[in-house]
Amino acid sequence: MFSSLKDVLRFKRFEISPAKRRLSKAANIGDLRIMAKKRLPGGVFDYIDGAAEDERTLRRNVSAFSDYGFKPRVLRDVSNIDSSVDILGTRAPIPLICSPTGFTRIAHPEGELAVSRSAARAEIPFCLSTMATRSIEEIEDTTLPEDTARDFAPRNWFQVYVWKDKGLLRDLLGRAKDANFETIVITVDTAVLGRRERDVRRGFTLPPQLGLSTIIDGIRNPGWTWNFVKNEPIRFANVVGKSTDDGSSAISLANHVNAQFDQSLSWRDIEWFREQWDQKIVLKGIQTVDDAKLSAQHSVDAIALSNHGGRQLDDAPSPINLVKPVSDVVGDDLEIYCDGGIRRGSDIVKAIAMGADACMIGRPFLYGLGTAGEEGIDWVLDFLKQGMHQTMALLGARSLADLSPGLIETRSKNLSDND
Ligand SMILES: Cc1cc2nc3c(=O)[nH]c(=O)nc-3n(C[C@H](O)[C@H](O)[C@H](O)COP(=O)(O)O)c2cc1C
Repeated sequence: MFSSLKDVLRFKRFEISPAKRRLSKAANIGDLRIMAKKRLPGGVFDYIDGAAEDERTLRRNVSAFSDYGFKPRVLRDVSNIDSSVDILGTRAPIPLICSPTGFTRIAHPEGELAVSRSAARAEIPFCLSTMATRSIEEIEDTTLPEDTARDFAPRNWFQVYVWKDKGLLRDLLGRAKDANFETIVITVDTAVLGRRERDVRRGFTLPPQLGLSTIIDGIRNPGWTWNFVKNEPIRFANVVGKSTDDGSSAISLANHVNAQFDQSLSWRDIEWFREQWDQKIVLKGIQTVDDAKLSAQHSVDAIALSNHGGRQLDDAPSPINLVKPVSDVVGDDLEIYCDGGIRRGSDIVKAIAMGADACMIGRPFLYGLGTAGEEGIDWVLDFLKQGMHQTMALLGARSLADLSPGLIETRSKNLSDND
């Protein structure tokens, strides 16, 4: 009896690394989100997960992907799947870019360093936010572990807002250039900050203040609290000593943005950036076909169709719904990125089939970072790559060139908000 029991009993080897143990229980990005929610204090999770007003845009960004189905072709040899693509002139194994996220060290002490290393390992671009908690120079110094093959260079992009202080902006661009950042991403959807009501409700500040509720939260999340207390203070690392609001005292993000950013920004500012920066420029936050046309006229290299992950204007168009109409009009003039709501490899396949050149993600890697640090981001990037490969195989598409609108069917035609 014992020998037959031995045949059927299989105990998994105990995994020593808690991060790996957690990741072994995740099947998708939704699972990582739930794990991050358990591990992070409520205010921190809400800052990452939340969005503007009633958060309809946030939900629609994700659910809009289910308005598109596939029309798979069969009996095609899919033994070799190639998902590689040129992003602004350099090959990447998957059409993916890590979006800029401010205050990333709030999720994990390594913050943007972990994201940049993970992206470099995956050979995809990483975009550092102006509101980052790691500086341009720290990212330049990022070294990958020695066992990582380095026959590729990390691809760092730098995101800028249009600050009132043009001297500060010029200084940031100069530092980005000196640190070999290859592309700037100008975010154009943030003339003022969207009303993020989860943060309003909690009186959330950056960095979080240690009030009574934070202390209670901290007791519930000892791992995060210990990291927060023992590591160097979280600051807006790129503007320390240069701006009155460098994050050294607690501020509300809305006050910071409304005081520092230029509400008079216009297409003339894009011309100013062209004079300052002679390399690639991406406009992030384009939400209509008309503005996509204007972007092409201002000879930028790419646009990110984006509503800032639903954090700015509630009821803004979902990026996936804009891909085809925008691609039909300016697809030959500039690269088009779909930014917002990507949670699976199949979402990336849909966006590419409808005319996007690449996709961008924000929250997915933050959930990974909050759950399991850098390994959590590796997990997310690998999950999206495997999901793309599996979807392409099941669709009968061997490479991105095989992906076309003909493989997509629109299920519930509810695109009037974007047309
Ligand atoms: C916590 C957080 C911080 C963000 N900070 C910035 C930022 O500093 N600059 C910016 O252009 N976009 C920022 N974004 C927006 C992202 O770049 C991206 O547009 C968005 O997250 C994409 O949607 P997704 O989260 O559904 O992938 C932020 C998003 C999140 C979730």
